[in-house]
This record gives sequence, structure tokens and C-alpha cells, in this order.
Amino acid sequence: MKILLIGNGAREHCIAEALTRSFGSELATYAKAKNPGIFALSKQYQLGSYTDESAILDFARKVKPDFAFIGPDDPIADGVADLLLELGIHSVAPLKTVARLESSKSFTRDLVKKYGIPGNPKFKIFYDMNGVRKFLEELGGEFVIKADGLTGGKGVLISGEHLAGIEEGEEYAKKCIGKFGRVVIEEKLVGQEFSLMSFVDGVHVVDMVPVQDHKRAFVDDKGPNTGGMGSYSSSNHLLPFLTQKDLDDAHAITEKVLAALFKETGAQFKGIMYGGFMAVKDGVKLIEYNARFGDPEVMNVLPILKTDFVEICQAILAGNLDKIKIEFEKKATVCKYIAPEGYPDKPVSGQKITIENQKPASVKEGDLKMYYASVDQKPDGLYLSSSRAIAFVGIADTLEKAEQIAESACGNVKGHVFYRPDIGTKALIEKRVGMMRKLRGK
Ligand code: AMP
Ligand code: GLY
Repeated sequence: MKILLIGNGAREHCIAEALTRSFGSELATYAKAKNPGIFALSKQYQLGSYTDESAILDFARKVKPDFAFIGPDDPIADGVADLLLELGIHSVAPLKTVARLESSKSFTRDLVKKYGIPGNPKFKIFYDMNGVRKFLEELGGEFVIKADGLTGGKGVLISGEHLAGIEEGEEYAKKCIGKFGRVVIEEKLVGQEFSLMSFVDGVHVVDMVPVQDHKRAFVDDKGPNTGGMGSYSSSNHLLPFLTQKDLDDAHAITEKVLAALFKETGAQFKGIMYGGFMAVKDGVKLIEYNARFGDPEVMNVLPILKTDFVEICQAILAGNLDKIKIEFEKKATVCKYIAPEGYPDKPVSGQKITIENQKPASVKEGDLKMYYASVDQKPDGLYLSSSRAIAFVGIADTLEKAEQIAESACGNVKGHVFYRPDIGTKALIEKRVGMMRKLRGK
């Protein structure tokens, strides 16, 4: 089985590991940079840009893969799955028309509304500034303003956090309209966020284990939003603040959205649907969908996947996900990202880092995973690029143990880096559980 992988982050390193665990699989990777982890797992490795269509097609013609797996959001949104289909190569990633689920927030809000699916907060889409102020006032000054395009997770600004009041809201809305032609404004929800990623074959939806990400850069959820500083999942495949009903409700939303997508576009979504949900006072709300695996969330789920991942990919493409049993180990996981100092606003770059004693002697083989993200491997060692550098994942029977494993590895990275020691700790998780209890009056 020959697989063409596109992407070079820690997410794709983790995907590459899962794909190559399958007996007889062979990986050829097309990437923007040399990720030392993916490079070591690949038979062929081609550097190139995601927008260079002829370079992608040339490599695909040479590789002749049985299927492709596209990791990052930008080549998915740009239609690389459509491009590969011209050669008859199917991708575990959606075609451009259904990838709008992620690339256009207004498309998804409208779709959910049009098909009467629950989960939307109060929202409106504006194409000019007419009525913006009135709506911000209607929301009682508690609002969220979303740029309607791919912004690397940095296009969403929230009142009280990033926007001091209605005037600043108007200013940002104007900027968004200037850049993308429209803006989404919605009610500010209060609750706990969780990520529920699902394997999707066009018709069937099979959920992975729910995960909680940490978007803020610094300890105690302070500082600017990032791509995600780390994440955790529980051994019972719930989250400490989540009920089974919350999870069932989120699943039902994804099933309905998948069906609505087909009705709306005539195209089947095949790949990963990643719902960002919020558990709120009276249920579950939809924050957004992504059309790919989450980064870091993928690192919480694929390492504990018991089912052969290549088999799952084949079932996604064949439309028979209902015919296979997909299982995850009953383990807790904690992922922590090492990032360059100054990330995300003014990251240092080009500085050397060293990893001492990769696996502490007390940690069992397989209980600690390391995935490379933005690093540059030179003959004399590893260098930082300007984004998240390395992720460590601890895997254990309890969250406490998983956290300790990840934590012990983070301390071994020396250089101009930082990470969040609080991710996955009892203190932080209890805070979240307490917040939910208070909100729901239980
Ligand atoms: P998004 O890019 O849509 O995931 O938004 C980025 C982040 O903004 C989310 O992870 C949430 O933390 C926050 N956010 C988005 N929409 C809302 C909302 N309606 N209410 C509160 N927070 C939100
Ligand atoms: N964990 C955030 C993302 O992958 O978009």
C-alpha cells in the first residue's frame, strides 16, 4: 500500500507514524520543510510549496500512490484533493467545495441554520457596516468577531478579552470586511471547549476520543491565542467536565452537518471532520468545524488507536466505515508543545536547541511519544523555526501519570523555548470542572 502524505508538522509526523504502523505500507511525503521524524518514516521525500500544482502533480505521478492523505488546512482549502483526483488519486481529505466547512465560517453557520441543525449561537453575517453597531448592542456588548477566511487560528477576536468595547468591535469588523468581503459576528458563549474529531466516509461518522486543547500561550490560560499549546484526553474517553449526553449531542450535530453538506453541494465529505464544541449552561454549542485533524489533538488520539489506521483510511474512501470496528485504548494522554520564546507574537528563530536524555529511564517504551513540528535539522543539530517546535505526549492509565510523563520530557529540551507546565495538571482540570459545575448549577 503506497500512501502520499502532504504536510510537515507534528500533526503529519503523528499521521505518518500511524500510517507506517500498518503492515506493508509505504510512505512518500510532499512537504514544505524537512521534518526529521517524517523524513525517517518516508521512502520518498519531496520538498515543495502547497500551491505549486505542477510540482504536486509531478510527484504524485512519480509515486503512483494507492491514496493520498492531506494534513494541513491550507492545501485542503486550496483544493489539492481535487487536483490529485485529476490523476485518479483519491484523498483522505475533502474536496474544495466541502472543505468550505473550515475555510468559510459564514458557509458553516449558514448551513447549520438552513438545515435546522442545533448548535449555532446567535449570529449574523455582514457585508458592510450597516447594522453592525446595532447587532453588537443587541448582544449586550458580549460578542465574538470572526474573519471569514483561513487565518491560522488568529482571526477571531472576543469582547472583554481582545476587544475592549463596541468601538473596537466595529473597527475590527471593518478590517475583516475590507480583507474578506464579509464578517461573522456572534454571541459570546461561556463554557468549556472540547474537540471532537470524527472519521467520515461521506455517510457514516465514527468519533474519536474527545480532547481538550489549550489555545492560550501562557500558564493559567493567559496571553495571546496560539495554534494550541497542548491537550489532554481521559482514559474513560470522556472529559472530566463533559457528560455522555454532551458527547452524544456533539455527535448528532456532526452527523446532521455531514448530511446537510451533501445535500447542499452534491459532494461527499471524506476525511476528518473536527468539531470545535463548547459545553455551555444548557447543552452543547458549535464553535466551528475544521476539515482535518487538530494539531495538537491528533497526538492524543492516533497513538492510542488500536485499529489499523490504513484500514480506516481505506474504509473512508470506500464509504464503508460502518463495516469496521474502530477502537482506542482506554488510556489517558497529555500532550505538551515546546515553543520558541516569544511565540506566537515575536518568536525567536534560528536558535539551536538540544534534547537531553529523550526518554527518562522511569518511563516505559511507548508511554512517551515525541513529534517534530517546526524545527530545522542541520548536520550539527536541531534549530528552531518560528513556530511550535516539538510535542511530547505522555500515555498512561491516569491523567496524573500521563501528565508527569509529558512534563518530565519537556524539561529535557534546552534552549530559548517555553511550554505550559500546567496542561493536564489536576489543579487546572479541577478549575474547569468547577467552572462547569457552577455554570450548570450542579
Ligand atoms: P475559531 O477559530 O472559530 O475556533 O475560534 C477561535 C477561538 O475563539 C475558539 O477556540 C474559542 O475559544 C473562541 N470562540 C469562537 N467562537 C466563540 C463564541 N461564539 N463564543 C466564545 N468564544 C468563541
Ligand atoms: N488545535 C487547533 C487546531 O488544530 O486548529
